[in-house]
Amino acid sequence: MFDLTSKTALVTGATQGIGFEIARLLAERGAKVFINGATSLEKCEEACKKIPNSEPVSANLLIEEDIDKMYEQTKDADILVLNASVQYKKEWNEFTDEEYDIQMNCNLKSSYLLIKKYAEGMKAKGWGRIVTIGSVNQYNQHPQLSLYAITKAAQKKMTENFAPLLAPYGITINNVAPGAIATPRNEEALSDSDFKKLLESKIPCGYVGEPKDIAPSVLLLCSDEGRYITGAEIKIDGGLSL
Ligand SMILES: NC(=O)c1ccc[n+]([C@@H]2O[C@H](COP(=O)([O-])OP(=O)(O)OC[C@H]3O[C@@H](n4cnc5c(N)ncnc54)[C@H](OP(=O)(O)O)[C@@H]3O)[C@@H](O)[C@H]2O)c1
Repeated sequence: MFDLTSKTALVTGATQGIGFEIARLLAERGAKVFINGATSLEKCEEACKKIPNSEPVSANLLIEEDIDKMYEQTKDADILVLNASVQYKKEWNEFTDEEYDIQMNCNLKSSYLLIKKYAEGMKAKGWGRIVTIGSVNQYNQHPQLSLYAITKAAQKKMTENFAPLLAPYGITINNVAPGAIATPRNEEALSDSDFKKLLESKIPCGYVGEPKDIAPSVLLLCSDEGRYITGAEIKIDGGLSL
């Protein structure tokens, strides 16, 4: 079960956090995994040192030329995990145009561009798996994460719209929506014990999750066993969105 031998996977934003754990697990199940990040090739290489059968692919998803170059390196992938995102915390009317564009372009537009690019090869093979990473913020109204939430909700809508169009080609597309997960992104916030306690009091399971809580569901969606799941979403949030 969940054997990905002979599959290739591209995981965006896989240098750390949730993306890293997804990449690690897909590789453990036999896939060759491309590890993407934007900061530097060195950072991608560092992650690859911990994941056998992986290859670094540095590309800033805000730059379309970088996406084209990434495709030249990876060629057609069987599995596409769209995990990279940018999140700015501000009051709803304080975002600059640049901050608006960066969140929209990284979290939404790049997903569209990558799906368009990689779906062609998947169609030709008659097999493909696409997983977008959403957020509990699709459901909760956080006063400082409004734009981020909008990008994630739109990305989810994209998966629902594309699912019936891709299904006839053997391609599934699904969204996974994490709740509060301990990653480098929120390390500083979670180091404040009062903040952490307050957050945990809102999570029915009572604790903040870890990347290892997210990756197995992504593996299911990327496997042959997940072939009948498309246009769906798995919320993994300890009940936070309820
Ligand atoms: N952590 C949570 O509590 C939580 C909750 C809900 C949803 N999520 C979602 O889960 C996903 C992973 O979150 P995380 O907490 O693991 O994030 P993270 O620790 O901030 O890591 C983000 C990753 O995205 C990459 N990235 C950022 N901008 C990029 C760009 N322009 N081009 C390419 N890569 C880029 C980073 O690469 P470099 O650093 O190498 O540049 C890094 O690998 C995100 O989609 C996030 O929205 C997280």
